[in-house]
Amino acid sequence: MIGEMTPEDVLSVLEIEMQCFSNPWSYEMIKNGLESSLDTWLVLWEEGTTAGYCVFRTIADECELLRIAILPRFRGRGLSKKLMDQMVFYSRQKEVKSIFLEVRESNDRARNLYKSYGFVEEGIRKHYYLNPSENAVLMVCHHI
Ligand SMILES: CC(C)(COP(=O)(O)OP(=O)(O)OC[C@H]1O[C@@H](n2cnc3c(N)ncnc32)[C@H](O)[C@@H]1OP(=O)(O)O)[C@@H](O)C(=O)NCCC(=O)NCCS
Repeated sequence: MIGEMTPEDVLSVLEIEMQCFSNPWSYEMIKNGLESSLDTWLVLWEEGTTAGYCVFRTIADECELLRIAILPRFRGRGLSKKLMDQMVFYSRQKEVKSIFLEVRESNDRARNLYKSYGFVEEGIRKHYYLNPSENAVLMVCHHI
């Protein structure tokens, strides 16, 4: 089940951040980010657990996927696609024309996921990420 995140979900999302990223967002970043009217935060529940979440920012007719993550023990069963589907649904409703994102060059799982949604690679940002330092691949989808 997917729903909009509320302040009660902040600790669960923090746990997902810590298990899924080498540079996790802090409690304050998540709590304060939730108050931005530009950002949509979605959480996914599976088997009574907050198994994943995503956040995307919509400005005019552009959307940027900022984070998407599924807890390791819930991966490989199509759950990230449910979050992606919901982001696409929201974007269509808001008449978004393009969705942008950045992804670590080595993150083949995420790159494959995005390609399967029609994202194409548009460029590289050298040494964009820290801990560890790594290039970012810029991807965009113009066919929402
Ligand atoms: C990327 C991530 C969200 C995928 O979640 P998931 O629920 O395991 O993915 P799904 O089971 O929905 O698979 C979706 C697609 O991702 C790709 N994928 C998933 N696992 C993969 C793997 N082990 N190897 C290669 N591609 C993979 C495939 O394209 C897959 O589609 P398919 O099953 O039709 O081939 C998850 O691995 C994750 O949370 N990673 C850590 C956080 C992260 O890197 N987020 C992205 C950057 S913000």
